[in-house]
Amino acid sequence: MEINRRAFIASLGGTAAVSLMDSEAKADALEHWMEEQLDEQVAANQAKFPTVAEIEAQIETRNYRRGAGSLFVSGRGNVKKLTPMPKNPTLENFFELRFAPANHVLQSATRALKTGMSEEVILACLLHDCVLNLIKPDHGWWGAQLFEPYIPEKSTFAIRYHQTLRFYPDADAGYEYPDQYFRIFGEDYKPPQHIEATYKMLRNHKWYMEPRLVTVNDLYAFDPNAKVSIDPFRDIIGRHFKQPKEGLGNDNSPSAHMWRTLANPDQPL
Ligand SMILES: [Fe+2]
Ligand SMILES: [Fe+2]
Repeated sequence: MEINRRAFIASLGGTAAVSLMDSEAKADALEHWMEEQLDEQVAANQAKFPTVAEIEAQIETRNYRRGAGSLFVSGRGNVKKLTPMPKNPTLENFFELRFAPANHVLQSATRALKTGMSEEVILACLLHDCVLNLIKPDHGWWGAQLFEPYIPEKSTFAIRYHQTLRFYPDADAGYEYPDQYFRIFGEDYKPPQHIEATYKMLRNHKWYMEPRLVTVNDLYAFDPNAKVSIDPFRDIIGRHFKQPKEGLGNDNSPSAHMWRTLANPDQPL
C-alpha cells in the first residue's frame, strides 16, 4: 500500500504531535492507519460495482440495446461510412476493415503465443471476441458459429465455451472472476441456468482446458499501451484457417450470411 505521509501525519494532529510520540506509538498508529486505509479502499472498490437492478435501470436511458454489436452503435456521435470490403474478402481484410482496432483479441493471442500455448488455442484467442462487432449476447455461441466452417474443431470448442467459463474461477488454471464482470453484469449477478448446465458439462469434458486457456489469456488482455499486430499470427492463420477462395460471405458456408452482415452493416434488410 502506498502511504500518504502528509495525510498520515495530519491524522495524528500534525508534526508537533508526532514528535511527542515514541517509536512504538508511531508504529502502532501507522498500523492502525493502514488498516483503516485498506478498509476504505475495499469499501470504495465494492461501491464502484453496480447491482443487477442498477444495470437494468440503465436500459431506458439508451436509444440502442446494450447487446447491439459494436459495428452498429457508435461510441460517440454518428457512425462513420465504412470502407467497402474487397471482392473476395479474407479474414485479414475483416480484421483490418471491420474488427479494427481489435486490440483485445490481438493482446489475448499475443499472450497465448508468448506462453507457448497450442496453435488451436492461439487461434481461438485471436478470434474469441470478434463476433462482438456483430452481436454481444451469447457471443461464445455466435462466435463459434461464425468461425466453425473455417477452423479446427478444438478452436471452435474453445470459442463457444470461453463465454461460460468466464463466470467460473479456476485457481489451478490461474483464472479469477474478473472485476469487469462485477461492473458489466452487476455485483450480485448469477449466471442463468443454461450457463450453469454448460459449466457442469465442461468440467467433465476432455477438452475443458481449451476454452479455459482462452479465459486465462482473456484476463490479461486489456493493456492500453501494448503494441500489437496480426503479423505474428499469419502463419497460424495460414495453417489453420480455411480461407475460401470466393471470399468470406461469398462461399455459401453455413455462416456466410454473418460475414455478409459484417461486410455491409448498413443494409436496410
Ligand atoms: Fe468473450
Ligand atoms: Fe475476451
